[in-house]
Amino acid sequence: MRWKTNWPQLLRLGLLGVSAVQAVNLSTSAQNLFDESMVIQDAIYDPAAAYLRYFYFPLAAGPHETRSSVWYAAGLLQRDRGEDRNEAVRILQNVIGGQEKNVSVQWYGDYTKYPEQPTVGTPAYPPVIYNSWDPNWRGFIGTALIVIYEEFGDRLPSTVQELILDSLYNNTVGDTYRVGGVDGDNLYPAYSNAWLMRTVVGSWTGRKFGNANMTAAGDSDARAFLKLFDRNGTLSEFNGPTYAGVSLYALTIAAKYLGATNATIGQQAHRVIETIWGYESQLWNANLRNFAGPWDRSYGYDMNKYVAIMSLWVWSLVDKEHVFPNATSPIWTMAHADDFEIAPLVAVLSEFHQTLVPAAARARLQEFAGDEQRTYTGHAYAPPADLEPRNITTWLSRNLTIGTASFNQSVVGGFSEDSTSFSPAVVQWLRPDASIGYFNLYPEETALVADVGPYALNLTYPLCNASSTFTFVLASNPLGAKRDIAGLEDVDGLRIKVVGGTVDPVPEISFCGLLGGTCEVIHNFEFWNVTFSMPESSTAVPSVQLQFAF
Ligand SMILES: *[C@@H]1O[C@H](CO)[C@@H](O)[C@H](O)[C@H]1NC(C)=O
Ligand SMILES: *[C@@H]1O[C@H](CO)[C@@H](O)[C@H](O)[C@H]1NC(C)=O
Ligand SMILES: *[C@@H]1O[C@H](CO)[C@@H](O)[C@H](O)[C@H]1NC(C)=O
Ligand SMILES: *[C@@H]1O[C@H](CO)[C@@H](O)[C@H](O)[C@H]1NC(C)=O
Ligand SMILES: *[C@@H]1O[C@H](CO)[C@@H](O)[C@H](O)[C@H]1NC(C)=O
Ligand SMILES: *[C@@H]1O[C@H](CO)[C@@H](O)[C@H](O)[C@H]1NC(C)=O
Ligand SMILES: *[C@@H]1O[C@H](CO)[C@@H](O)[C@H](O)[C@H]1NC(C)=O
Ligand SMILES: *[C@@H]1O[C@H](CO)[C@@H](O)[C@H](O)[C@H]1NC(C)=O
Ligand SMILES: *[C@@H]1O[C@H](CO)[C@@H](O)[C@H](O)[C@H]1NC(C)=O
Ligand SMILES: *[C@@H]1O[C@H](CO)[C@@H](O)[C@H](O)[C@H]1NC(C)=O
Ligand SMILES: *[C@@H]1O[C@H](CO)[C@@H](O)[C@H](O)[C@H]1NC(C)=O
Ligand SMILES: *[C@@H]1O[C@H](CO)[C@@H](O)[C@H](O)[C@H]1NC(C)=O
Repeated sequence: MRWKTNWPQLLRLGLLGVSAVQAVNLSTSAQNLFDESMVIQDAIYDPAAAYLRYFYFPLAAGPHETRSSVWYAAGLLQRDRGEDRNEAVRILQNVIGGQEKNVSVQWYGDYTKYPEQPTVGTPAYPPVIYNSWDPNWRGFIGTALIVIYEEFGDRLPSTVQELILDSLYNNTVGDTYRVGGVDGDNLYPAYSNAWLMRTVVGSWTGRKFGNANMTAAGDSDARAFLKLFDRNGTLSEFNGPTYAGVSLYALTIAAKYLGATNATIGQQAHRVIETIWGYESQLWNANLRNFAGPWDRSYGYDMNKYVAIMSLWVWSLVDKEHVFPNATSPIWTMAHADDFEIAPLVAVLSEFHQTLVPAAARARLQEFAGDEQRTYTGHAYAPPADLEPRNITTWLSRNLTIGTASFNQSVVGGFSEDSTSFSPAVVQWLRPDASIGYFNLYPEETALVADVGPYALNLTYPLCNASSTFTFVLASNPLGAKRDIAGLEDVDGLRIKVVGGTVDPVPEISFCGLLGGTCEVIHNFEFWNVTFSMPESSTAVPSVQLQFAF
């Protein structure tokens, strides 16, 4: 399919009309977030290339990066000082210039991951989804282009405004090539963050072009999302410290720019955002500065030690001191710091977003009352991985949280089939030095029954036998506490006791270290591997019952 923009017609219809808007007025906390992220991005911006350098574990030797450059362009337009506007224009022209134009390839309308990459689909650079190309880049870059167009269109030459719309058109067409389970793709409605980005880009772009196909696809995507969400008022991709933040980002764009239209997602986004904050704020432990578990997908085990996008939303709402310990070094020194590059967009959207955060939720983000205990119960459902809805139970107290999901799935590792990011049983506590300890199940089975109570956690593998093991990822003790962990009695700040179950109560303990040990670190977190096995000849259903005390 060839497609050509009819600019004279669009101009006649007034579709290029951009209302004159100022830079967004940021709250103090959002401005702090914005400023701290721009310091990093200014430092890695390469004006000769008009791209950011590729800040990725931690810096690539030379290459630049596409997606973060667009995030930075939004920041430049918001700041709008000196050469900022011109640099933003150069970035946008570069990124859109590199957009895939061959309608026959699966990655049509997608953007490069980095501009120096070999051409995807050549013998030297085979198309590998989520590697040499990433289908979610359409969603990430498309949504960012919408924010840029809506907020800062009047700061851009009309040719660049047109280029953005052109880019979004191809982006939307290309994203319709995605079908969960086909060609290696996994875009099902349960893949909440990516699904929502496609919903929003299609709905917005369809309206801009008066294209009924696109708006109909956007509405259909929205209905599929809502069908899952409204089962129990939860995202299928439940409580991911990074990806719940991306879902909120997409929903905010829907609420802000499509809220006055009849787009299904625009009409529903407000209440969905309120509902998400309703449960996320219950899971937030303001004293530990962490969302209690379980986490469907996480890039670490302690939010004080890595950058999660939900931390950026909380920062924009109640400021940095409620998210990271005061002693934290600059954010770019933390694990997964590359995600901090999305901060300009979070800041720009936060002024609108905060109006949708219920007062009770905001209060819970700020403080966990000294003697409070609460139990959250809910359900989340992510087909096709989930054979039945998961049951979530999380007990929170000021210095200890225990959060779990009972599940019955078709794969190991949850929807994303990744045991390093799916954390279905999470225990976190405050240690004497004010740092956070954790003791989390590393999932190795397709079904788990988890029972939680105050200071107690019982886990059962209903489908398993004597060959099964329960492996826990246990935090290293902080500096000054015991360096070696030979038994649970060596754990700093929490007494962990096996009080029952069918496992051998004495675990095998090994170390997964940065520079040694017998197993690999996970997302740059080193840990002690605490593995419980079944007695050799046991015929019992595997289970372990744990009690915790300070
Ligand atoms: C931002 O605040 C200034 C000063 O109060 C005001 O003049 C301006 O209109 C505001 N801009 C927006 C977009 O609200
Ligand atoms: C959109 O795709 C068409 C068809 O391949 C191509 O001619 C056009 O240049 C593309 N536009 C952009 C901005 O990539
Ligand atoms: C577009 O991609 C198809 C499928 O890979 C290929 O056969 C064709 O040669 C490509 N066209 C161009 C202009 O590169
Ligand atoms: C809408 O979709 C139909 C069926 O896929 C297609 O034939 C038609 O060209 C599309 N129209 C536009 C404007 O994209
Ligand atoms: C969750 O959804 C299921 C299926 O629709 C329903 O049976 C159940 O009552 C819901 N539970 C809650 C707590 O909303
Ligand atoms: C939105 O309005 C358009 C034009 O009136 C109509 O064709 C479309 O069906 C409406 N969409 C929804 C979801 O109501
Ligand atoms: C962290 O720093 C802020 C600002 O300096 C201060 O208001 C706050 O009390 C500090 N919090 C802690 C726990 O020390
Ligand atoms: C939590 O830990 C702090 C610091 O050790 C202590 O002062 C406080 O009493 C504890 N609170 C509860 C509820 O255990
Ligand atoms: C969730 O709880 C319901 C009601 O107790 C139960 O029937 C169902 O089997 C549970 N689901 C899982 C996956 O454990
Ligand atoms: C998991 O779900 C499947 C399909 O509904 C069911 O047959 C099986 O009994 C369930 N397993 C457990 C352990 O609940
Ligand atoms: C864990 O199992 C023990 C023994 O069956 C039981 O006494 C306890 O209540 C259970 N705890 C929870 C939280 O379910
Ligand atoms: C944990 O240790 C066991 C051996 O006790 C090993 O088989 C397993 O692969 C390790 N798991 C991880 C996640 O490191």
